[in-house]
Amino acid sequence: MAVDFEEFREDDRILGMERRREDSEEAGLRPTRWGEYFGQTRVKENLRVFIEAAAQRKEALDHVLLYGPPGLGKTTLAGIIAAELGVNLRITSGPAIEKPGDLAAILTNLAERDVLFIDEIHRLNRSVEEILYPAMEDYALDIMIGKGPSARSIRLDLPKFTLIGATTRVGLLTAPLRDRFGVVNRLELYDPDDLRHILLRDAAILKIGIDATGLERISTRSRGTPRIAIRLLKRMRDFAQVRGSGTIDGEVVRVGLTALDIDDMGLDRVDRRLLEGMARMFGGGPVGLDTLAAVTGEDPVTIEDVYEPYLMQLGFLAKTPRGRILTRHGWEHLGLACPEDYERRLKGLAGSARDPGAASGAGEGKEDPASRQLRLDLDRPAKDDA
Ligand SMILES: Nc1ncnc2c1ncn2[C@@H]1O[C@H](COP(=O)(O)OP(=O)(O)O)[C@@H](O)[C@H]1O
Ligand SMILES: [Mg+2]
Repeated sequence: MAVDFEEFREDDRILGMERRREDSEEAGLRPTRWGEYFGQTRVKENLRVFIEAAAQRKEALDHVLLYGPPGLGKTTLAGIIAAELGVNLRITSGPAIEKPGDLAAILTNLAERDVLFIDEIHRLNRSVEEILYPAMEDYALDIMIGKGPSARSIRLDLPKFTLIGATTRVGLLTAPLRDRFGVVNRLELYDPDDLRHILLRDAAILKIGIDATGLERISTRSRGTPRIAIRLLKRMRDFAQVRGSGTIDGEVVRVGLTALDIDDMGLDRVDRRLLEGMARMFGGGPVGLDTLAAVTGEDPVTIEDVYEPYLMQLGFLAKTPRGRILTRHGWEHLGLACPEDYERRLKGLAGSARDPGAASGAGEGKEDPASRQLRLDLDRPAKDDA
């Protein structure tokens, strides 16, 4: 019954979405104009309208919040927005701003309509965040002068700037901060088609030969994430150089991905360990996030931000009010037999989470979103089988 948890260091993990030293070449690949930024069509089109409108009114763009898993192009987007506005971009991050004074210094050095990009904005500390509220709302800085009874507050005017905040964890943002963003955009995992465009452009810049099959294979095994696609492209270049003709073709990618232990769906050992743990130790679930973390030895935050979004997109894992469950697709991918009464058992769970009105057929509208998603996930494999 034991799951094989072999020694595995995060550093080895080519599919990790977070930024690493070897990603340094990213700078040269980072798109600077809309034409080079593929996918995220809805986000892109909205932003283009807002940017143009702000430019016509000669005003600063409203504050923008970008959220979504790492490696999807949040930093890149901030750069493009500043370039399109024709203004300076000042980059910093939540943990880098330690004191209110640090933020005050940054804000007072901005020029009219400049963009200030704060990465990992959910990690700002409270005293810094409080400086940000009037800055965002009224373009003003409140400073306390003196101490005790003679202390008074003075208000400094700031240039009309645009704050772009990026976060992987929008749920950790305080409500007052979130409410001060006029434009809130969620970045989605990319389709293989968009990733193919990104890979083609990057291969050309890096002068790497790649054929259609090679492109196809990398684009479908990159967890919908440009950063991972780029990393795989570079690793496959090594395999092509040493083992092949120098061009990344289908065979090079097949051999390369096998050597890196990445499977047909782009899952690596950690993903499989997670799914296998759910199947073998919990009969497919539901399992709570913390239990899953304890059992796999992964950090719950990493599981939620990095592994789950892709496993959910593949339809291998679903979230329910009672915890995570493995779907029928998930069982199949592991090559394990899904228990006979599995769907019935889970449907019971979905039913019990529904309110009584909805259960009696009073209408879809009353069903809570989580159980609705579970129902859809369960319905999907059944339809495929038919
Ligand atoms: N839409 C896109 N089109 C082309 N390349 C992209 C796109 N999104 C991301 N990239 C590439 O992926 C890399 C990582 O993106 P980045 O903006 O750093 O992600 P995030 O800030 O969300 O972690 C970038 O350097 C860029 O080369
Ligand atoms: Mg970033």
